[in-house]
Amino acid sequence: FANMLAKRGALIVIEGLDQVGKTSQATNLVEKLKQLGHPAQFMGFPERSTPVGKMIGEYLTRSKDLSDEAIHLLFTANRWELVPVIKQHLRDGTNLVVDRYSFSGMAYSVSKKGLNMSWCKGPEVGLPRPDLVLFLDIHPSRLTEREAFGQERYEDLKFQEAVRENFKALTEDYWQVVNADRPFSEVGQDLLEAAIRTIESVPGKPVLRLWA
Ligand code: TMP
Repeated sequence: FANMLAKRGALIVIEGLDQVGKTSQATNLVEKLKQLGHPAQFMGFPERSTPVGKMIGEYLTRSKDLSDEAIHLLFTANRWELVPVIKQHLRDGTNLVVDRYSFSGMAYSVSKKGLNMSWCKGPEVGLPRPDLVLFLDIHPSRLTEREAFGQERYEDLKFQEAVRENFKALTEDYWQVVNADRPFSEVGQDLLEAAIRTIESVPGKPVLRLWA
């Protein structure tokens, strides 16, 4: 991405446990950024509309079983197939707000025990590295109270506790932990402020490669 130095969009990722409100916050953030004159676009993983995404969808709704290794690689492939779209948006100066990324890929797979960190990381290495990761943090016991919780694979309290610990182990200097156990608008305001700071800081900086 060496030529992407001038005016470029920021790659902003929202991460967190199931049902914490990532999708609503990401959608809201895109709207708020646009209102303030920052071009912005929503993107989410898994992107279930592609052929790879359809297999992931069937796995998550339990209509299909796959080995832990196979589903891990499908989640990763689903990101790689959208890299050209990500790069084009950033080049065009559009800020991307991405609902889940490789950190979900790692935190969920590693929680399965059979898979280790370095094996899981391999295929993620070299993806565009986010400029900012906003981690919506909440205690998993607060999520099980939510109506939709438990419908899909992984939506189990013990598993979510493990996922939260594994997310925390991935924290890097471009992460910001946001307390998500607060009213929607308060959380949203924190996300907006952090996003704007990042958007203003990226022009002139290259898009780095994740874990490379
Ligand atoms: P979603 O509810 O945000 O659509 O995500 C579906 C589930 O897939 C969620 O439980 C997290 C999990 N997941 C992974 O295990 N690996 C990944 O790489 C991604 C993006 C999601």
